[in-house]
Amino acid sequence: MIALVVLSLYLLHAFEPSLRANFLHGAYPSAVAEQQATESFEMVLNIIRIVLWMILAIIIIRALSVFFFNVVFRLRKGYEAPVLIRNIFSVIGYIAGFVIIFKTFYPDVGLGALFTTSAVLGAIIGLALQDTLGNFFAGISIHADKPFQVGDVIAFGAWVGVVESITWRAVKIRTFTNHILLASHSNISKEAIDIAPRDNLNARLVFFNTLYTDSPAKTIHIVREAVREADNVSQKITPIVRIRSLAADGIDWEVKYWLVDYAKHNDTDALVRQRIWYAFRRAGINFAFPTRTLHVERKAKRDETQTDGRGFIDRLSAVDIFAPLSSEETAKLAGASVSHVFAPGESVIRAGDEGSSMFVVHQGRVSVQITDNGKPRTVAVLGEGDFFGEMALFTGEPRAANVVALEETEVLEIGHQAMKQLFDTNPDLVDSLSHIIAERRLGLTAKPENQEDGKEASEGIIASIKRFFGFD
Ligand code: CMP
Repeated sequence: MIALVVLSLYLLHAFEPSLRANFLHGAYPSAVAEQQATESFEMVLNIIRIVLWMILAIIIIRALSVFFFNVVFRLRKGYEAPVLIRNIFSVIGYIAGFVIIFKTFYPDVGLGALFTTSAVLGAIIGLALQDTLGNFFAGISIHADKPFQVGDVIAFGAWVGVVESITWRAVKIRTFTNHILLASHSNISKEAIDIAPRDNLNARLVFFNTLYTDSPAKTIHIVREAVREADNVSQKITPIVRIRSLAADGIDWEVKYWLVDYAKHNDTDALVRQRIWYAFRRAGINFAFPTRTLHVERKAKRDETQTDGRGFIDRLSAVDIFAPLSSEETAKLAGASVSHVFAPGESVIRAGDEGSSMFVVHQGRVSVQITDNGKPRTVAVLGEGDFFGEMALFTGEPRAANVVALEETEVLEIGHQAMKQLFDTNPDLVDSLSHIIAERRLGLTAKPENQEDGKEASEGIIASIKRFFGFD
């Protein structure tokens, strides 16, 4: 493009004498007419020259802008120059270029006078550009103050969304319904803006309530543990659970938690509420609602503690290690077991914890995971009728792995006491359990050892189970 413009300028310069001779060769009726023709010719030539020089100037200014803002600015500051600053640079460059070129060809014409004397023109332009200029100056102040950046979540008026770009005219925001909102700078600067910066630990409050009969200390503990584990909840600050008011229907609570990515706060709020629901259900804590809902809650509570249903007895009698038990023993075991429901992604067991009970999967699936080089590795997926948690229960060692619900999962928890009673009447149980524990231990190590080691381990485990349950 530059070459084309330079070539045109050169050709114009080279052929000017012959063009002049060609166009002004006729006989003019008077000297005045000849002078008019010459002036017109000169004017056309000058306009062509000005246009060509202007094109050249625009190309050079653009190249300079790219050099300064894309290369120098980026290298120095580490981020791209704001669009507004680039535009201002270009506009000033174009005006300066035009004035210099124009003055070169018409040194006697006062450009200043042209711009300043026309008051009416000025007023018209001023009125027409009132909004644009207001926006422009609001844009300058937003660029100078930098109250928010691309990626921050901002809320103003009725709008909330993630800032996608900031141009010289408007801020482009992606709302949480995935729409694009273009908010002009002048609109934004008139409102109070709520900003959640991307690189800041932003907090959220989620509200819930409980009955007056539920212990506040227990509620605080249960909710804090349930919330701190949820995805996108920051591990850096422990969630805070506190009473907001002692209301007519029950105790009003709030949990304050901090997010890793604030842009996902709607999903995280929902997950936090879900986790509170499951944790409440397991802990037997009740949400406080008006009386008509209380009736539903009573029913739910009965479900939770139901341990004598045929479902549980059938489930336990289908577990291979309990197959030798008599039907009375199985019914007794079902009566002693407690059902718990876990949300998808929730931990049922955490590696390293103390454990005094084992679990049978009644409905759903769980994954047994260990941490391998800092990353979770699944060693087994257990489904309905499978059991877990027996290692810590029978040996007294800390939990050997994490067990996480893969979907909504109901488990039956069997405690130490219930198992001890079974051992008294079924000594063979110790044997079959020790084999399973030995096999599972092998599965936990990255490189399974040979069968001989497995056999030895199994004998060692039988001894430690007997010791732990006081049979020796
Ligand atoms: P416990 O150590 O009490 O807690 C974690 C549980 O994960 C453990 O008991 C076993 O029940 C279970 N587990 C550990 N390793 C395996 C494995 N290789 N296969 C199946 N289950 C396992």
